Amino acid sequence: MTASRNLLRCESCGTELDELDPRTSCPKCGGLLSLEIELPSERGAALRALFDARGSVGTIPESSDIGASGVWRFRELVLPQIPDKNVVTQWEGNTPLLQREAVARWANVPELMLKHEGHNPTGSFKDRGMTVAVSQAVRIGASAVSCASTGNTSASLAAYAALAGIPAIVLVPAGQVALGKLAQTLAYGARTLLVRGDFDDCLRLARESSERLGVYLANSINPFRIAGQTTIVLELLQQLGWRAPDWIVLPAGNLGNTAAFGAALRIARATGLIDSSPRLAAVQAEGAAPFARSFRSGFAERKSVRAETVATAIKIGDPASYERGVRAIRETNGVVLDVSDAEILEAKAVIDASGVGCEPASAASVAGARRLSKDGTISRGDRVVAVLTGHILKDPGILLDYHKDASRSMANTPIEIDAEISAVEGVLKHALSPSGSR
Ligand code: F0G
Repeated sequence: MTASRNLLRCESCGTELDELDPRTSCPKCGGLLSLEIELPSERGAALRALFDARGSVGTIPESSDIGASGVWRFRELVLPQIPDKNVVTQWEGNTPLLQREAVARWANVPELMLKHEGHNPTGSFKDRGMTVAVSQAVRIGASAVSCASTGNTSASLAAYAALAGIPAIVLVPAGQVALGKLAQTLAYGARTLLVRGDFDDCLRLARESSERLGVYLANSINPFRIAGQTTIVLELLQQLGWRAPDWIVLPAGNLGNTAAFGAALRIARATGLIDSSPRLAAVQAEGAAPFARSFRSGFAERKSVRAETVATAIKIGDPASYERGVRAIRETNGVVLDVSDAEILEAKAVIDASGVGCEPASAASVAGARRLSKDGTISRGDRVVAVLTGHILKDPGILLDYHKDASRSMANTPIEIDAEISAVEGVLKHALSPSGSR
């Protein structure tokens, strides 16, 4: 970390750029940039006290107090020098850490906790990165912002750009974005391009077009996005009284979040917020698992695939933050695995029926925890946080398909009846009898 000021540094060739430079990849070699900040002088208990004094989850936000945001509460570790007037926030973060016995039992992880990022303003963890990236866009006077997305990033960018009064342009794969996400993106007012291709095509086009047109790119290759997303980990550590869990399990697609979690743990250790690091487990969908394949070869080779999975959020074949993801896994003695679509849907049905609910990609974390418990990687008694990255209503299509299909193990099939009391009685008598419930 630099001693005197914040800067952007290329992770491949070391080129340094000013913190206010609008480019989001290295102008010399095209490598990824990371934001290096001057860490605060407080350490350990003093820093914990500073954050705790600003409150934690459940604090009622005062509209004048940026520190009530679950992202900006940690601003010294995120983006210390941004002026308050540039900050675009809607008190994102502040998401609950839940315990649901049925989910823990299904996963065979008794000490399982669920960090529910679906409770963010637009229903996914993306808001944590977007409040920082869009604030930075305002700070540098960007005329427009853009991104490629499988749906959540676009919904989040559209919302924060609207808050900031900056035009947003998003590129999403045509016919492959969950209904809730597309509806949000349109409603918040982003100019939405449905690309006849996949996410990887969208990202290529977004990178090229933002360079040519001078539009500020808000994908997770943008280091300010990563900085914001570190607060998922900082906040969950705070919720645990700064006692680190043994494992943090998260779904992985483009690897922005995996990179952010690695960065968060690096900072948390460097500043003495925690003394021991949790291990990271990144979980991919079987049909979109280039990172898991690379992991199995000891990261000897970077892989890419043509992605296919019901979890459209993580349907990504060539993750942009690959190197950062590798670093995060290596530094935390982490693991990468993949789970089948059937496991994802089963985990999701259990999470949904527990009253918590999440979108399909999110359930990969719980399906992954179950696998790791089964093969003994997660030991009995380990404290495990699984991150639920998106809200249940993001993907209503998949929910209805599941519950209308009576062959599914947890299907709750709707029953159509005539508008007569006898029909209601007939159904209820059956449902309330000891053998009649579904
Ligand atoms: N979970 C959800 C709900 C997501 O939307 C995403 C990514 C991930 C997990 C994976 O995170 O890409 O940082 O590894 N969604 C991006 C998007 C790609 O465009 O919304 P990642």
